[in-house]
Amino acid sequence: MSQLFEHNGAEGKGYSQPDPIMSTDNLHIPNNLMRSNKARWPRISEPEMVRHYTWLSSRNFGIDTGFYPLGSCTMKHNPRVNEVIAQLPGIADIHPLQPDHHIQGTLAIFHEMQHMLAVCAGMDDVTLQPVAGAQGEFTAIRCIQEYFRHRGELQRTKVIVPDSAHGTNPASAAMAGFEIVEIPSQEDGRIDLAALRAVVGDDTAAMMITNPNTLGLFETDIAEAAEIVHEAGGQMYYDGANFNAILGRTSPGIMGFDAVHYNLHKTFSQPHGGGGPGSGPIGVKSHLAEFLPGPVVKKRPIMPDDKLTSINTEWWYHWYEPQYTIGKVQQWHGNSGAVIRSWAYYRRYGKDLRAMSEHAVLNANYLRHRIMEEAKIAGVDHLFCDGAEIEVVKHEFTLSMAPMKEELGVGAMDVAKGLLDKGYMAPTVYFPLVVPECMMFEPTETESKDTLDEFAKKFIEVLQEDPEVLHNAPITTKVRRVDEVYAARNLTLSYPFEE
Ligand SMILES: Cc1ncc(COP(=O)(O)O)c(C=O)c1O
Repeated sequence: MSQLFEHNGAEGKGYSQPDPIMSTDNLHIPNNLMRSNKARWPRISEPEMVRHYTWLSSRNFGIDTGFYPLGSCTMKHNPRVNEVIAQLPGIADIHPLQPDHHIQGTLAIFHEMQHMLAVCAGMDDVTLQPVAGAQGEFTAIRCIQEYFRHRGELQRTKVIVPDSAHGTNPASAAMAGFEIVEIPSQEDGRIDLAALRAVVGDDTAAMMITNPNTLGLFETDIAEAAEIVHEAGGQMYYDGANFNAILGRTSPGIMGFDAVHYNLHKTFSQPHGGGGPGSGPIGVKSHLAEFLPGPVVKKRPIMPDDKLTSINTEWWYHWYEPQYTIGKVQQWHGNSGAVIRSWAYYRRYGKDLRAMSEHAVLNANYLRHRIMEEAKIAGVDHLFCDGAEIEVVKHEFTLSMAPMKEELGVGAMDVAKGLLDKGYMAPTVYFPLVVPECMMFEPTETESKDTLDEFAKKFIEVLQEDPEVLHNAPITTKVRRVDEVYAARNLTLSYPFEE
């Protein structure tokens, strides 16, 4: 692959900027901070640079180039209007250290977003600080930990997670220093209350669970599970990454949860990028509110000497440090761009937010049904097993390629790579772990019926391919099948300059 540094021979210049208004001659930079050799910037012209990045972007697959049914990772269209709003100069050009009276507008947006998130989850308080779902989990679990320390319940050292949990749940709890207790799911993929009763006790700090779970199934016994954990003195933590399945219909608060994280980049409006650039606010019930990372935004009635410049004559917005705060989990105030985009999205929907969830669930069920139907027509329905008996799912569903693997030696990875040759991003593979040779599909609410119909047909075409073709797939993409394990174990993150 061509790299910018390989164009280093040319004497081009890829920027143009006005002459500095201030001379740098009198800046006394200490000698030990001066460079001893020239920076090795690529020397290329502006058109060369533009072509390089355009070329790079054309080698990738994205939600703007095609259907991206990645289960659990929710790749959906982000309305461009939210981008425009986040980039308004009064929003994008402010600095986090500006005094409150400069940024009343942004503080008002943050406050409203905290409130809207609290309302939709049935929580009392929210912090917008964490910048990823996993960081939100860690933050909430730390708040729960501090809450128990504060009460002197130091023996609560265990966190219960079902075996269908997203991997970040046990990882976050373990990072906070908890011992993980995994409980098996029932045959139908839901929580096993008997297994929960068997492990819960006065050493339980919390149970972490997502509902709907990673199989796309609604946990029908959730209220009873919450009762069991609460009776033992533990806290209920809701992984809200799957919120787009239930928003406006029910809430973690109603289900009996004490704390929740939101994935703004999955549920609202923010591109879901690898390792960021997301936003994972958390919401808590009032007994956990004073443990939140600070600062959070509060409002009070306006006073005559507030240096207010405009916007609101009723309220004054200000930062507030919770009394027993666990401390900061992110620099400044989190990923404010993601918060603003999601606020704009939420504002646009308002009370109709449930229409978004309804479409997400409808699309998942429709696609699942269409795939089954196409499989039947093509005579390949025997290839599916797990999940086929479930009548209705929520926002995502799983199919197992285990029978196909056994019969033809073609596994989930081969099918996924075969889909790339049809012009689609593959669904998530090998997750959740409870489904063998798993493929997990999440069409999201932003896809049309035509797209889903076409995808169902193409998916079945892939299943009918010659196994040899699938073993060698993809053959039409710019990069063929890569050794993912090697790539993950041997990361090259910088250009190997010759000294
Ligand atoms: C169920 C579930 N929990 C947690 C996460 C972690 O979120 P993030 O990738 O923002 O860290 C995800 C990611 O998509 C998820 O699907």
